[in-house]
Amino acid sequence: MSHNTAVIWQNWHHLNNIMEGNYSKIILLTDTVVAKHCLGYFREKFRRNIDHVITIEAGEENKSMMSAASIWQELNLCKADRKSLLICLGGGMICDLGGFAASVYKRGIKTMYVPTTLLAMTDASIGGKTAIDFEGIKNLIGSFHLPDSIFIDTHFLATLPAAEWLNGYAEIIKHAIIADAELWNLLNPEHFRPTIISDDLLTRSINIKQSIVAVDPFEQTERKKLNFGHTAGHALEAYFFNKEKTLSHGQAVAAGMIIESYINMCSGKLSEKTYEQIRDFILKYFPAIGFKNEEIADVAELCKHDKKREFGTLTITKIIAIGLCEPDLLITEQQLKEGLEAYIRATS
Ligand SMILES: NC(=O)c1ccc[n+]([C@@H]2O[C@H](COP(=O)([O-])OP(=O)(O)OC[C@H]3O[C@@H](n4cnc5c(N)ncnc54)[C@H](O)[C@@H]3O)[C@@H](O)[C@H]2O)c1
Repeated sequence: MSHNTAVIWQNWHHLNNIMEGNYSKIILLTDTVVAKHCLGYFREKFRRNIDHVITIEAGEENKSMMSAASIWQELNLCKADRKSLLICLGGGMICDLGGFAASVYKRGIKTMYVPTTLLAMTDASIGGKTAIDFEGIKNLIGSFHLPDSIFIDTHFLATLPAAEWLNGYAEIIKHAIIADAELWNLLNPEHFRPTIISDDLLTRSINIKQSIVAVDPFEQTERKKLNFGHTAGHALEAYFFNKEKTLSHGQAVAAGMIIESYINMCSGKLSEKTYEQIRDFILKYFPAIGFKNEEIADVAELCKHDKKREFGTLTITKIIAIGLCEPDLLITEQQLKEGLEAYIRATS
């Protein structure tokens, strides 16, 4: 099985051609907000008959078993068979949910992702991970199921709120730091505007995720590099969630990248100058997240529950320079706490 899905760039003519005669039924899955902003444009450009549209309420809370069950019901009602295609039109929530539902319906039907958020274009649609949240735990139930194709049209981003742009940019910055110094230079603060994106920048970012996933589809080694910023970031996200305070995924990952870069610097892996460059660039675009020294122990505790931990160890990505990293740097809880302290100092 190849682990690189074809990415089709803005070429509706090509998309319409490859749809011809290939699928017994075409079913489209979307959410209520995307239906409002993007479905009209999609229908105008997509020249094939859509047999059925399934609309799920927007929001991460609907990436659930209930939504998956309602998709299976609708697929069954409209007699979708194993040659049917499920088009997932939406952000990462719809891609993850639709991908999961499709991966087990009749033991797997084909999907096509049409991502409408920057995060889904550059990250969530790539690599074949599908999931739903379960028992309050994000992505607890899921599968690996590659879409047949991913169709990118940045026209969809015209209606994307600014905060959602930043969620996508956090992952693009991550891709630059872990694998592409030239991409980092393109993100140079003088030219950087976080509510527009060039095709060049987006392509580079997509290629990084595609190439990492291609060599390690099931996250044994290389793919772990993509977790940069996410060990500390997920703990912060969980902490804020428990306190019923809002914190976007992008803000959490951005803070996580600063914290984990600091730990790399203190471990002698990363130069002080590069750490400062990363910190200053991120803080220019991502508002500081407010937490206090008294809260550090609780945040660090939550890292222990990260589902990606193996054998009870705490690991982060080893950042050596911008564009160069290795998968696993083993760290102690104390180092993590020092990273969190450094973030507080840098933002107060
Ligand atoms: N499978 C993976 O590899 C992977 C990687 C990263 C993230 N994810 C998952 O992706 C999800 C987050 O994705 P997301 O940030 O795209 O969130 P999302 O899909 O919930 O979209 C965010 C909001 O933007 C709205 N929206 C989407 N497109 C729009 C548009 N063009 N105009 C206006 N509004 C629009 C949505 O309706 C939603 O309200 C999480 O569930 C996360 O776990 C998966």
